[in-house]
Amino acid sequence: MKKAWWKESVVYQIYPRSFCDSNGDGIGDLQGIISKLDYLKELGVDVVWLSPIYDSPNDDNGYDIRDYRAVMKEFGTMEDFDCLLEEMHRRGIRLVMDLVVNHTSDEHAWFVESRKSRENPYRDYYIWREPVDGKEPNNWGSCFSGSAWEFDEATQMYYLHLFSKKQPDLNWDNPKVRDSVFDMMNWWLDKGVDGFRMDVISLISKEPGLPDREPGINGYASFAVSANGPHVHEYLREMNRRTLAGRDTITVGECCGVTIQEAKSYASSDGSELNMVFQFEHMGLDDENGSKWSEKKVDLRELKKVLSDWQRELHEVAWNSLYFCNHDQPRSVSRFGNNSDAYRELSAKMLATCLHMMQGTPYVYQGEELGMTNVPFASIDDLRDLDSINAYHEYVENGIFSAEDMFRRICYKSRDNARTPMQWDDSKNAGFSTGEPWIMVNPNYVKINAAEQLRRPDSVFHYYQKLIRLRHEQEIIVYGDYELLLPESEEIYAYRRHLGNEMLLVVCNFTDHDTEMSVEELPAETPECLISNYGDPAFGKVLRLRPYEAVVWKF
Ligand code: GLC
Ligand code: CA
Repeated sequence: MKKAWWKESVVYQIYPRSFCDSNGDGIGDLQGIISKLDYLKELGVDVVWLSPIYDSPNDDNGYDIRDYRAVMKEFGTMEDFDCLLEEMHRRGIRLVMDLVVNHTSDEHAWFVESRKSRENPYRDYYIWREPVDGKEPNNWGSCFSGSAWEFDEATQMYYLHLFSKKQPDLNWDNPKVRDSVFDMMNWWLDKGVDGFRMDVISLISKEPGLPDREPGINGYASFAVSANGPHVHEYLREMNRRTLAGRDTITVGECCGVTIQEAKSYASSDGSELNMVFQFEHMGLDDENGSKWSEKKVDLRELKKVLSDWQRELHEVAWNSLYFCNHDQPRSVSRFGNNSDAYRELSAKMLATCLHMMQGTPYVYQGEELGMTNVPFASIDDLRDLDSINAYHEYVENGIFSAEDMFRRICYKSRDNARTPMQWDDSKNAGFSTGEPWIMVNPNYVKINAAEQLRRPDSVFHYYQKLIRLRHEQEIIVYGDYELLLPESEEIYAYRRHLGNEMLLVVCNFTDHDTEMSVEELPAETPECLISNYGDPAFGKVLRLRPYEAVVWKF
């Protein structure tokens, strides 16, 4: 297999608004991030992906960009950014920017022009349509509730917004849009950034004619109908030729609706498009009726099937990203593990083992390395995310769920679970800010925080540190192939990796009770334990596993 530094790396995602506030205004900022770079260095990550830091009116916390070449005032200045980049590079950490180019803010200069008149030179930067029978041009829904179309009084036409109405979709079929985006990318690359995480990049090519599609539970067709459109690969190859080619970068496409077949193009090892994609199949396993607002628990057999299919199918032809959490998902330990006092740390380490021993580039979301949990929101007023707030109103007002029922679902699945402040220590506001934080702090910061974990050798933090170090030391973790064991087990996730004459056996108990597995077909030798979350595992023909136990054996 072709070697590459981005295959050997671990990426850490920072959500700047909630990471560290340096000036007490309650909002995380770039100087705050700079003050925590030594923490990241100690964790051992190779790359940092920054969620958007560009100028934005913050309808969707920065995913609605007003100016791609300016820094959001709340976060600091361009000088702060240059300093951040330099301080990261000085520590050998690379920086990945979030590239949000499926849409802009409605306050971006291009859209301000575009909506002025039907003849404006920027009109075709966006997707405008005439009303049909006095209504929306089709039945597409916005990801954040309601129709994906907004009527604009000035020119009596609708514009498309797959996200909020303050996030109009760019028209990628217009070559001038592509020129403008590629210029902007080159501007950041020339500045020295090391790559891009491309926001909903699978949505950029819309199906010609914009046809109606099958409606979902809320009456609208899902925004994901626009995924993998007819020109998406052509546009990404053009982007690659005009921006990335000849530069040493890391690129990951956020690809909702991507299939394994499609991913083989997006993330092809021929390097013509992107290095890797975020796929969503495992994130959808606890959906119900096509909606994420469900309290369903993931079936372990389904999780294994999905992740194993991706492992097997991309082997040698493309490359996987590995993740259980990000700023759009609830906390992984609360969703896939067990956040009770007895099992929170054990299950957080188990999940990390299961993920980090696979083939692909692992992503750690801020606080995941501490086993941070979902948040005990008291009412809808505690939430800030427009996705959760809009969905609450839509579902309750349309009688889909009662207010109480919908609030419980939101507490389980809301993106705000991952967006409360990073828990640095047990001082006021978890050490995140001396002012009033923009969103509540999880009250469990008193026991779950970085300072406590840095002091304690058996903490989740130190376990992540070891997993990351192992990836740097053991080629088999990066390049070995993958073989699932016990596909039918509802309790154990076990797999093997092979490289040359080495083999890894990864065994994870996903339950809160003892279980066991027999391991007959293994070499006779006694293996070395690379890592384990109980610390004293015994090897034998029958492996006994304690609650949430995880062990990696090397032969
Ligand atoms: C992506 C982002 C999400 C954002 C959306 C619209 O899914 O990760 O946070 O709301 O795109 O930009
Ligand atoms: Ca601040």
